[in-house]
Amino acid sequence: MSEPLLRALNRMRGLILDPDVLVKAVASGRQKGEEPPPWRRVELRYVDLKAGRHLQVTKYDATQAFTSNHSISSDSDDARAAVDELIDLAFGHWNVSTTTEDHALRVTKRLEAVVATTPPAAPREVTRGHDQPKARLLPEDDPVFVELGISDGDGRLKPSRQAKYRQVEEFLRLLDASVTEALVKGHLRRPTAEEPLRIVDLGCGNGYLTFAAQRYLTSVRGLPVVVTGVDVKEQSRDHNSAVAARLGMSAEFVAGTISDAELAERPEVVLALHACDTATDDALARAVEWEVPLVLAAPCCHHDIAAQLRKTPTPSPYAMLTRHGILRERLADTLTDALRASLMRLQGYRVDVVQFVESQHTPRNTMLRAVRTGGPVKGGAVRKEYDDLVTTWGLEPRLGELLGA
Ligand SMILES: C[S@@+](CC[C@H](N)C(=O)[O-])C[C@H]1O[C@@H](n2cnc3c(N)ncnc32)[C@H](O)[C@@H]1O
Repeated sequence: MSEPLLRALNRMRGLILDPDVLVKAVASGRQKGEEPPPWRRVELRYVDLKAGRHLQVTKYDATQAFTSNHSISSDSDDARAAVDELIDLAFGHWNVSTTTEDHALRVTKRLEAVVATTPPAAPREVTRGHDQPKARLLPEDDPVFVELGISDGDGRLKPSRQAKYRQVEEFLRLLDASVTEALVKGHLRRPTAEEPLRIVDLGCGNGYLTFAAQRYLTSVRGLPVVVTGVDVKEQSRDHNSAVAARLGMSAEFVAGTISDAELAERPEVVLALHACDTATDDALARAVEWEVPLVLAAPCCHHDIAAQLRKTPTPSPYAMLTRHGILRERLADTLTDALRASLMRLQGYRVDVVQFVESQHTPRNTMLRAVRTGGPVKGGAVRKEYDDLVTTWGLEPRLGELLGA
């Protein structure tokens, strides 16, 4: 099945830029009707040099190979820039081999992507030495992580905080890809120093994501952004404001509920990481009210629909789906997020539901990624699908109420 080219290329880009998983990537061929790439073929892999691990790029023209090595250190954009330059060329094929999968991306005549993903014939292990720091979006010793207590005073990740670090890192990875795509496709405006991109983190808690997003997008991506964190707890605002002052970071923190918090200006990106239960619905409804172009929400516990499923008789012939508590809870999670996605589509958003961190690290690993591509949709198949589902199951989703659906 085909998918938007940019989205598929962004996924390949993420794999190529992960030195822990990439075995080899090869770009070749050309896209129909586009300017042919200047190289017949390009190969990318990681090599351990005296100066540390580097991304090695070998470009082949008709007669020769040209090899260059690019730093992956956190304070350099070298490897990232090299990959972005190649991704921008109109290659017709990308074959990306990782330690666990082979991805073959083919560009169709309509400039969409078809990606075939297969396991490798035999298990792969890539050994590149153990003494190099892992290339991360934000390194463990970033002052943000030290200040937030994820890393110790020497910049070493605390064993007890590994899950949080990974969660923030993976969220940033999706934020990075989503912002890039939204900028390229014109869903988000290009920010300037005078008019930075306005990002709000709803239910920000201790601000891990708020600070990490600010640091990554400004320092690593070079995108001017201003972040605001909203949390109902005053203690959260006070703590985070003090952290921002110590880091010398311009981040605003507001104490208030997601539904009612007053922001100086409408945000353009809404983030919500594990806002509890229906607070995710509040965040999505707020995003719709603000007509926010990009929303990334990773829901937390799903009590609301779970409670409704317990109280409402299960429609025939689905009784066995709700008989056992554990299955009923899982069904409630699925229903909640499917209904949220459907409601956001009705509001003119293109929605993906993706896994943002591996399930062995946390079961709360679903992310709703919504990009505003049009105005509210009236009637039609999406509406009918939504109505049929809630009627059959006798459900009243909180987001539906908030949006007057
Ligand atoms: C599980 S924590 C997640 C914090 C943070 N996003 C993170 O992932 O590290 C949920 C946070 O949402 C806040 N929260 C829950 N409901 C809220 C609401 N309706 N309005 C504002 N904040 C809310 C809580 O106070 C808590 O700090």
